[in-house]
Amino acid sequence: MIRRVGILTAGGDSPGLNAAIRAVGKSAQGHHGMEMIGFRDGFRGLMENRTMRLDGNVLSGILTLGGTILGTSRDKPHRMRVDGETVDMTRTIIENYRRNRLDVLICLGGGGTQKNALHLQQHGLNVITLPKTIDNDVAQTDTTFGFDTALGIATEAIDRLHSTAHSHHRIIVVEIMGHRAGWLALGAGIAGGADVILLPEIPYSTERVAQAIRQRVQSGKTFSIVAVAEGARSREQAEMIAAARKQKMEASSKKEKKRAKQQLASLEAHHSGNHTVQLSEQLELLTGLESRVTILGHLQRGGAPSAADRLLATRLGTACTELVAAGKYGVMVAARGEQTEAVALEKVAGQKKLVPLDHPWVISAKRVGTSFGD
Ligand code: F6P
Repeated sequence: MIRRVGILTAGGDSPGLNAAIRAVGKSAQGHHGMEMIGFRDGFRGLMENRTMRLDGNVLSGILTLGGTILGTSRDKPHRMRVDGETVDMTRTIIENYRRNRLDVLICLGGGGTQKNALHLQQHGLNVITLPKTIDNDVAQTDTTFGFDTALGIATEAIDRLHSTAHSHHRIIVVEIMGHRAGWLALGAGIAGGADVILLPEIPYSTERVAQAIRQRVQSGKTFSIVAVAEGARSREQAEMIAAARKQKMEASSKKEKKRAKQQLASLEAHHSGNHTVQLSEQLELLTGLESRVTILGHLQRGGAPSAADRLLATRLGTACTELVAAGKYGVMVAARGEQTEAVALEKVAGQKKLVPLDHPWVISAKRVGTSFGD
């Protein structure tokens, strides 16, 4: 029996996606003799039945390319914007899966994609996922592809910021991606030698950050680098979020619940930049030093994947087609040391791998004198 494999990439793009598409495609078609079909722009392309042939020619020369040749989107099968309305398009997606006579759909994505894949599996489709995201926050896998590349880019940025901060005796606050998880800011902060690292997992006191910078000045170091994850929050902001969450839980009427939900959403909203600029201004006031802001933004997601990400994507992609050949579905292909492991989607979806407060990276950073503002 020749298996027919569908593949899509969903969520924010990430270096290594093309390496993974290539690995799945080459091993599925070349090694296992399967047929493969790509869907464009994530679940939206599957809903609209927009396909792409993925034969040998298309798969050649993409190992080193950034982005995804399939295109991506953040659309969810059960909540898709269609003609200005949010609609559940699960049924159409199932119809297109059947129309294309698929045996399995492979979804390359981060946390949101794991949930969407589980949703489709619960509606009777065969699904396998691969974990990608520069945030490294997918549960049950050692790491995700994209993270290593972004780590290199953010580290190089911090390296470069050092010389200009040093020359001008300034603070430079560098914002690093990571809305809920601080892996990227933590890793790049350590590797780049940031003096302060602020993470979503550790609410900070602005005064403690200023104190750390003043102490550096006293010891003759008139510049400081502050690496801040975009989702980092001060203690006051974290308290407001916790109170809003409680309010939402305790709301008795529908109206109250809606209001509490809106308030929480606005507090948790992803406002890259605003918060970092505010922090920089406060640090100027509290330390008397000049401060500048650098927001790395999507630079961290663009361009060629690192060697480590190419390798990881190739390992996960080829392991994925072994699972297809064995008919093992409803799983994510996780990285486990040198090996890979099939983890049930139920164990992954809805979970987030945050930085534990006692993680060895946090402890090492503290040992070398890095402040977390706590
Ligand atoms: O999920 C990866 C990520 O890069 C996050 O770090 C960031 O918060 C988010 O995507 C940005 O999303 P978008 O590109 O949709 O603005």
